[in-house]
Amino acid sequence: MKFILIAGARPNFMKIAPIMEAFSKQRPSHDDLQVLLLHTGQHYDPKMSDGFFEDLHIPHPDINLGVGSGSHAQQTARVMVAFEEVCLREQPDWVVVVGDVNSTMACTITAKKLGIRVAHVEAGLRSFDMSMPEEINRLCTDVLADLLFTTDPIADRNLRREGVAEEKIHFVGNTMIDTLLQHMDHARALPLPDGLRANEYAILTLHRPGNVDDRKTLSSLIGTIREIGRRLPVVFPAHPRTVGRLKEFGLLGSLQHETSIRLLEPMSYLPFIGLVTHSRMVLTDSGGIQEETTVLGIPCITMRPNTERPITCEVGTNILVGGNPESIRTAAFAVLDGAVRQTSIPEKWDGRAAERIVRVLLSKEV
Ligand code: UD1
Repeated sequence: MKFILIAGARPNFMKIAPIMEAFSKQRPSHDDLQVLLLHTGQHYDPKMSDGFFEDLHIPHPDINLGVGSGSHAQQTARVMVAFEEVCLREQPDWVVVVGDVNSTMACTITAKKLGIRVAHVEAGLRSFDMSMPEEINRLCTDVLADLLFTTDPIADRNLRREGVAEEKIHFVGNTMIDTLLQHMDHARALPLPDGLRANEYAILTLHRPGNVDDRKTLSSLIGTIREIGRRLPVVFPAHPRTVGRLKEFGLLGSLQHETSIRLLEPMSYLPFIGLVTHSRMVLTDSGGIQEETTVLGIPCITMRPNTERPITCEVGTNILVGGNPESIRTAAFAVLDGAVRQTSIPEKWDGRAAERIVRVLLSKEV
């Protein structure tokens, strides 16, 4: 059986690492197993890509499409054209995609049009917000996929409601959490950036178009974070797209001299998880960080109007506050004033999701 496993952007890398490992454990008992790792090149900065491969010991990709940045249509189209050639040459039995980035959707459409089966890891997540590019990617991918691996029962329900056949859905757990559980002790033991002390800082991550592409929205968010930063310093490893916008809107200069918000370069996986484990709280608009903080028991304040990961609010540490300054401040100050919530870790977020996925994949006919 021949598989091509796809990775394109930063949040994909921690999801594919345990799948690669689970495949390689099966190799001795499956002579005919062939797994190719394909990087689309959607993220290409060493800090957004290579560092993750090194930290997580992911083998060097067999194929790199090198598509780079561009508009959504350009990026998606470049992946599709390049991936079609790969599929025609390699003739895989299965293409395995993860997450919800442009590369996920582009490779799914390409493979399906060539009659190649697709498995989607992290299927069924829905924000019900079509202004998010990721929601469009999730919907297109799930409607086409032959196997849908889900992280929680809410995702199963979403898929059933959309008419996906029961036998295609497999609730397996969360491969991002497989990676977290495997590496968190090591990450926690790493030194913190200079001048930071455990439990005495908050973390900010911000990169969604809805938050950073509009001058008024971005400057209001930064203003609110500044106020929080006066009570507890905020560390901000900034995504290149956010740095670009801050520069464009004339907000970067003042931030670079700010003491309440400390701007850092994007961090690779282990130092970032180390930073999270020792933080007092995280303010974010990321998807994956909502899940990681839930497992680590760190309060997470999500500055988005909705989440495709509601399980993290239902049982975990996530508080959805939207972009309203007052709501962000109130939630952050409540954490700083010691508000505690009873939380738990979602079912099957136990470090064995990739093993379950590979078992299902290998049980399928060629
Ligand atoms: C992508 C994903 C998003 C994910 C995020 C994590 C889509 C639609 N979005 O968003 O779901 O949460 O990755 O980071 O797929 N850039 C660089 N270096 C890089 C990559 C990007 O400088 O290595 C800059 C470029 O200016 C680029 C911009 O960031 O135009 C946006 O990159 P892109 O991959 O289009 O989307 P992200 O915002 O990173």
